[in-house]
Amino acid sequence: MSSVHFDGYPHVICAQQFSRKWLEEEFLPLTDEMEEIFKLGGCEVLKGKRMFSFFYQPSTRTRISFQMAMEYLGGRTVFATENAREFSSARKLETLRDTFLVINRYRPDAIVIRYDHDIGAKFAADVSRAPVLNAGDREPGQHPTQALLDLRTIFKCRGAIDGLKIAMVGDLDKGRTVRSLSYLLGKFSGIQLYFVSPANTGMGEDIKMYLHKHEVPFAEHTDLRVVAPEVDVIYQTRAQTECGTLLDMSEGYFIVDRTITGLMKKDAIIMHPLPRVDEITTDVDDDKRAVYLTDQIDSGLFARMALLKIILAPDA
Ligand code: CP
Repeated sequence: MSSVHFDGYPHVICAQQFSRKWLEEEFLPLTDEMEEIFKLGGCEVLKGKRMFSFFYQPSTRTRISFQMAMEYLGGRTVFATENAREFSSARKLETLRDTFLVINRYRPDAIVIRYDHDIGAKFAADVSRAPVLNAGDREPGQHPTQALLDLRTIFKCRGAIDGLKIAMVGDLDKGRTVRSLSYLLGKFSGIQLYFVSPANTGMGEDIKMYLHKHEVPFAEHTDLRVVAPEVDVIYQTRAQTECGTLLDMSEGYFIVDRTITGLMKKDAIIMHPLPRVDEITTDVDDDKRAVYLTDQIDSGLFARMALLKIILAPDA
């Protein structure tokens, strides 16, 4: 058994569960081990373990990387639906509670869920024997495994988390990735956050209260050109149009383009949880500071491998 566990183990529901000690002593070192295992072509540490994957919302990265993480560790995804709202009995109005009570009878070792309402993973975990891993939920919205991979990306690219200045840009109101990442960053020292968004899509009051409590200074802006020269990380996000967001671009400057890269520090990085629409212009992709299509994707796989290993084979 690992020496440090996260709160609520083995379920992964929200980013507040992870302590700095767990992140630094368990999670981050294990992601490096997972990278080595990946380079060697995989291992059998999860042999015999079975994962279910229930997605009620579209996904490319999270769904595939969880399945590939299982694959690289020798486990299996024995059931996966990419549209549970349509193709599971949710279509016939079965409740999430009943669904999880039933699927637990098949004895899965882990269940990954992306739910489209409320804190779905929390409700599922309340009745689930198998560990539940939140792959993104709504209202208030969290994506804890994304926050873990984002933290790993920053750590690998910058060498440390403490003392960094980080800009979060775009739809901060509905974007669940920036909410979960804020919770994680609040555990570190000397962090300064810059929230860059139109007024009607600003960061939620619950996150701001958390940051106040953890003495993380933050400032709100509407012009990324002012912020770009200051920061070590620009974390861009897309408008969550499926949730009704309409970003009013006339309110300021929110796009990452060549103007912004021209203002950034040489060793700063540009991140995005993806999918990208048009909030980062494609001519930025080849900039060596852009990691959203490279290191950030790799960290997604290694972070989920590490998490599955910690939960499904802690003694191995
Ligand atoms: N970042 C992220 O959650 O991407 P997907 O929606 O493609 O899983």
